[in-house]
Amino acid sequence: MAERILIGVAWPYANGPLHLGHIAGSYLPADIFARFHRLRGNEVLMVSGSDAHGTPVTLRAEEDGVTPGEAAARYTASFLDCWERFGVSFDLFTTTMTDNHRDTTHELLRLLHEGGYLYPGSMLVAYSPDFDRFLPDRYVNGECPHCAFDRARGDQCDNCGRILDPIELKEPFYQRDGVRHPVEIRDTEHLFFKLSAFEERMREWLSQPDKESWRPNVRNFTLGYLRQGLKDRAVTRNLDWGVSVPIAGYEDRRVYVWFEAVMGYLSASREWAARSGDPEAWRPFWQDEATRSYYFMGKDNIPFHTIIWPAILMGAGGLNLPTDVPANEYLGIEGQKLSTSRNWAVWLPDYLNELPPDPLRYHLAAAMPETSDSDFSWAEYVRRNNDELVAAFGNLVHRVLTIARRNFDGRAPEADAPDSAGRALMAAADAAMAAEARSLDHAPRFREGLGHAMGLAREANRYLDAQAPWRQVREDKAAAARTLSAALYAIAALRQMFCPYLPFSAQRLHELLGGVGRVEEAGWTIAPPAPGTPLPEPTPLFAKLDDALADRMLASMGA
Ligand code: MF3
Ligand code: ZN
Repeated sequence: MAERILIGVAWPYANGPLHLGHIAGSYLPADIFARFHRLRGNEVLMVSGSDAHGTPVTLRAEEDGVTPGEAAARYTASFLDCWERFGVSFDLFTTTMTDNHRDTTHELLRLLHEGGYLYPGSMLVAYSPDFDRFLPDRYVNGECPHCAFDRARGDQCDNCGRILDPIELKEPFYQRDGVRHPVEIRDTEHLFFKLSAFEERMREWLSQPDKESWRPNVRNFTLGYLRQGLKDRAVTRNLDWGVSVPIAGYEDRRVYVWFEAVMGYLSASREWAARSGDPEAWRPFWQDEATRSYYFMGKDNIPFHTIIWPAILMGAGGLNLPTDVPANEYLGIEGQKLSTSRNWAVWLPDYLNELPPDPLRYHLAAAMPETSDSDFSWAEYVRRNNDELVAAFGNLVHRVLTIARRNFDGRAPEADAPDSAGRALMAAADAAMAAEARSLDHAPRFREGLGHAMGLAREANRYLDAQAPWRQVREDKAAAARTLSAALYAIAALRQMFCPYLPFSAQRLHELLGGVGRVEEAGWTIAPPAPGTPLPEPTPLFAKLDDALADRMLASMGA
């Protein structure tokens, strides 16, 4: 029976182009998951958008000499272009700058306020006497009170991942133009979110048996966070750029960026519904309890999605809580920590200007930082492309299609019942496809799922080597037809199995197998070309890459 799946993907700050850390951390796993579930016939809604408010964007706008809105619009255009070219299949990618997002945020804030979950309180705020301004959390630096990391930011510690308040930092300072300016703490009135009120419900929710399938890092981090006790948090700020506060007396305040950004999942779903022509279409995705909802992100975003957002949803009432939050760990580059400030990164727009999407999707899926940090390197990129995509998958397809065309009148051969080796290969294809479905259906394990596909490609190659249809065609043409038709069955399975991971190549393979329309239309089934189907002249699915490419790309990073 078809299921309904909501997929929320972390909203990237619109403060710079996308890099491989974003892709491996959030967008690729979310896209594979969405494509898999659509193939299965499930109803999927995948949403996200630019996180347009917050200091990362205002800082960038200051640097670029434009308004924050202009900066956000510029990078949003770049994101949309990347989704198109890299094949990230959002149902809607919007921004937090829309009227709809403001209205949805206001509605949720009013519900929380009416429920008694928002209350006025005084907050100590960092203030710079040198610049006569309140400082956003992120502008303040200092020592982390938890792990003693000396360059923690006022919103979060990059070392231990904890959410912070700038006043918790020891020896706070404001760094500007290379100078450390003193930071003063001032008392101001703000609205607080009563997170403490949700402690018991949160404990209950997190102890439900289905949470045991959450990734250990996500589960442990969240339980550890809860164990320390949930503290109320100020959710308004002294800023101009952001979502206004719909409560009297707070007209000059803005909603704290994290508090409204997570609300974007709901506002984007409503925008999608409105655009689809049925403004109520978002409801089943949020209000039908049978709907499963998944949130994809890097590990620094975990507490916002496993604690803060669920608490907002509990406070608002009548909206589904996350089913799972399969957060990824970090992707390093060439053995070092990725760093945008040191420009140690591979930028997706640059990559896409030179190279095709699927080999990168393949590398990042095969080395996805699912349960521990992992690494991207150009040498490994070239090796995987050549040894795995070209030699195993591409070559299998090319051999089978070439022999079939040459010897069977350019068509898929007509064959009688498969022999035992052929039956074994077909059974292996069925089993591999079922295994990949188990890897991806829930608590997704993307590397494992891809391993089932590549394993089948290797097995089909061994089968081909053993049967040697290039010899069979001369000695026993009926045997060659049987071999090719079993191999085509395995290839048809591989086409669907690789489809979530390598959508562009799967579409080309679909056409090489004489298919019309979109590869996705076949669904999660094995549908080899019917005997007699004309097969077009095969062209290679993947191009072999030169080792010199790795050297050149590495050099371009300034390594
Ligand atoms: N903009 C944040 C980041 O890039 C992620 C926000 S996710 C959201 O780290 F859910 F809060 F929107
Ligand atoms: Zn820390």
